[in-house]
Amino acid sequence: MKSSFTFLLLMLGAVVNVRPVQEASVLYPYGLDQKDHKNPKLDDGSSKKLSLSVPFTYYGKEYQTLYVNNNGVISFGTRVNQYTPDPFPLADGRSFVAPYWADVDNVLGGDVFYRETTDPALLRLITENINQYFPNIPFTATWAFVATWDHVAYYGSTTNKGNTFQATLTTNTKTSFIILNYKDIQWTTGAASGGEAETGLGGTPAHAGFNSGDETNYYNIPGSRTEAVINITKTSNVNVPGRWVFQVDDFKVTGVPTEAPEVAEGNNCWL
Ligand SMILES: *[C@@H]1O[C@H](CO)[C@@H](O)[C@H](O)[C@H]1NC(C)=O
Repeated sequence: MKSSFTFLLLMLGAVVNVRPVQEASVLYPYGLDQKDHKNPKLDDGSSKKLSLSVPFTYYGKEYQTLYVNNNGVISFGTRVNQYTPDPFPLADGRSFVAPYWADVDNVLGGDVFYRETTDPALLRLITENINQYFPNIPFTATWAFVATWDHVAYYGSTTNKGNTFQATLTTNTKTSFIILNYKDIQWTTGAASGGEAETGLGGTPAHAGFNSGDETNYYNIPGSRTEAVINITKTSNVNVPGRWVFQVDDFKVTGVPTEAPEVAEGNNCWL
């Protein structure tokens, strides 16, 4: 009797533990079974220059190519190998989206995946999500680009810590959106950015946001370059923890979070 009761408890425990796995993931499908490409294993490396089958409009400019940079950045025009993030707006006019700009080392652990896709099931899901978050903007996705950092390690790591996050670009050829998804963030800083090798914390923490390339159009996700960025899996501008979504063909910021931004003075990005 006692042992079967214990067995029952074990079974209940197993059921409780399994439940989170069955919840819909904040990430869109990714990996080799999705025919993703993988960045080479190289500290501060990137993809090759990737040609897009449709132009992507980012803050008023059309881009036909981009790079997926290991250090948590998708850039238009030029590769980014910088490992310690600078605050936005950047002085040098680089235009990029930084899902989580920090010193990733995919030699020490993890992988950076990417693919261009017109998979109908994924486009349907993305369309449904965008329509829900932006009910006043007519949008049906015809193209998407999904980049995923899967359990990536930090430079100088002496741990098994890894961060898992994703940036999805999508367009109907006119209106474009970027969806940032944060699944699991375990570290904020590489050892060459003042972080501790034993924790991946301290120093100059990761930066998340958008830099259009000019001085006025940029957005810093709250917590960026502070230790609070570790909690980006719990914040959102669309009421889905760990998800930040922006219309990016023209500069707009929708769904200002309740949390006050760290650096709000003179910052005209909070529309
Ligand atoms: C992250 O969130 C938790 C729970 O809300 C909070 O206790 C903690 O202080 C936050 N961490 C940082 C570094 O802000």
